[in-house]
Amino acid sequence: MAKNKLNKGNEVNQEFTKPKISKALLAKASQLFAYLKPYKGKFVLGMVFLFFSSITTLTFPALLGAMTDAAQGIQTYPWLTPSVQQIGILAFALLVFQTLTSFFRVRIFVEVAEKVLANIRRDTYRKLIVLPIDFFANRRVGELNSRLSADLSQIQDTLTTTLAGVFRQTLILIFGVVLLIWVSPKLALMNLSILPIIIIMASVFGRFIRKLSKQAQDELADSNSIVQETLLGISNVKAFVNEHYESRRYQTKLDAVVRIAMKGASYRAWFVSFIIFCILGAIIAVIWYGSSLVSIGEISVGDLTTYILYSMFVAGSMGSFPELYANIQKTLGASERVIEILNENPEPIKISKENKRINKKISGNLMFDKVGFSYPTRPDSEALKDITFEARAGEKIALVGPSGAGKTTISSLILQFYQPSKGKILYDREPAEGYSLTDIRNQVAIVPQDVLLFGGTIRENIGYGNLEEDAEDIITAAKRANAHNFIMDFPDGYDTVVGDRGVKLSGGQRQRIAIARALLKNPAILILDEATSSLDSESERLVQLALEELMKDRTSIVIAHRLSTIMDADNILIIENGRVIEQGTHAELVRKETGLYHYLYSLQSNEKIYPN
Ligand SMILES: Nc1ncnc2c1ncn2[C@@H]1O[C@H](COP(=O)(O)OP(=O)(O)OP(=O)(O)O)[C@@H](O)[C@H]1O
Ligand SMILES: [Mg+2]
Repeated sequence: MAKNKLNKGNEVNQEFTKPKISKALLAKASQLFAYLKPYKGKFVLGMVFLFFSSITTLTFPALLGAMTDAAQGIQTYPWLTPSVQQIGILAFALLVFQTLTSFFRVRIFVEVAEKVLANIRRDTYRKLIVLPIDFFANRRVGELNSRLSADLSQIQDTLTTTLAGVFRQTLILIFGVVLLIWVSPKLALMNLSILPIIIIMASVFGRFIRKLSKQAQDELADSNSIVQETLLGISNVKAFVNEHYESRRYQTKLDAVVRIAMKGASYRAWFVSFIIFCILGAIIAVIWYGSSLVSIGEISVGDLTTYILYSMFVAGSMGSFPELYANIQKTLGASERVIEILNENPEPIKISKENKRINKKISGNLMFDKVGFSYPTRPDSEALKDITFEARAGEKIALVGPSGAGKTTISSLILQFYQPSKGKILYDREPAEGYSLTDIRNQVAIVPQDVLLFGGTIRENIGYGNLEEDAEDIITAAKRANAHNFIMDFPDGYDTVVGDRGVKLSGGQRQRIAIARALLKNPAILILDEATSSLDSESERLVQLALEELMKDRTSIVIAHRLSTIMDADNILIIENGRVIEQGTHAELVRKETGLYHYLYSLQSNEKIYPN
């Protein structure tokens, strides 16, 4: 079955992978146990409450049996001679005790789990945001996010319920079996001898059915991803009038789901009937054989009652183990993935307020010295080859070239998102290694190709450039970026919420916000990655003016698609296939009639002369 990537992502969210429990896996998962340490005391206390509540549960069958006997004037336990009333009162007292211990155990485990999980969440997040860009290039962020939250809630479930369940059910099982034998060894022998047969049959049957139902779930996940895909891209579906195609695609998937489900239907029906047969059969057998033991006076009616109740406890606890085991398997898998993230190699950045402080000033000289680079995901194709140029402080350097030439890659290297595989990048003629990562990034600003705004207010989005600036400076920056007027046109002005849940800004407006943000940062080196999509001439003029304001008095690296914007550049680099193939000023390059720049320029200026 061919599955595209999106389907895979979805499937992962729905169905946890269950790895084989191995030593290595346990060792990895135990790393997460370190998070329990600060709450060790609380956790142990929870276990104590759990122990008492489980033990108390186990007293009820004995008490109820004794009550039945006492009602007939017999004493089950000859060394005690309580009345029915006394036993009843004792049972209620124990019930109150049991209720209280249950309350505390649940309360404590939930508290511990919440706190532990918050710590794990905080650490994974703090880890994620200092991981190199490369980590994210290999993963789909949406998938990473939903996967992570699913993994973490799986771990949380285990802390709140599964671990307690294992402890409780084990106690009940062990004590329960001992008590069964104590009440009536003969009944217990008969009971325990048929048990293994039932367990084996049930687990073989169960595994087979689970396999079928997993297949059905996979198909369902596939069909869900069709819904998700089409709803996300609804405008595409409509624009291409593909409603019929999509609904047929969905129908085909649904048919497959039903087909697989039907295949499992008879097995499932047999399985359920088999289990019912076993449970009721065991009860009938116990009562039957038990009653005959009562009739020959070997055990009392109270004993039989006690016995039946214990055997129900034991059966219940046995029945719960497969699920508990599966849950633990899932949790180990989930912890492994979380641990993998926690063990990734981060960038050398320590998360602290100090990050924003500049320790070593850069005045604005930027040099690329024979820089070669391959993306880690594509090690055998060189995105940049032998790039050499110098931008002196305050100069404007333009990068021009066809799509995919490597222009954005150069800007990523300037920001130290990646390290060059060959050559050096120098700031103020000192190799990048001489600076901390934060010093470089604090002094380089980028207005990217496609501006992504955070889902906050416009004020917050501009303020992102410098978190310390006050309202006044934000407005000044917006004015200098030609953004003030359109911002004030919104009823909420600077407090307008933008992004997914707010106002959608146009491309030109988003760019001007990004420019204001960069202005506020006041960097030594500025990178402008011009948007490929063209703006209408009025917004283009506004953006252009804003950019000129931004480029004043600093080194700027301008990635330009419209050559009109870079005619005044100090140096223009023509990049093709990761190489600088020509360079010079506008005047020099235009003179070279066989050059790429000359060709591009004549194309674009013709457009101006003969507009459509
Ligand atoms: N994260 C990445 N992983 C692997 N390869 C990448 C990555 N980003 C870009 N590339 C590849 O590197 C080459 C240069 O891409 P880059 O984005 O630098 O081009 P560009 O000059 O900015 O193009 P455009 O003008 O279309 O923005 C392309 O072949 C691209 O496919
Ligand atoms: Mg680009």
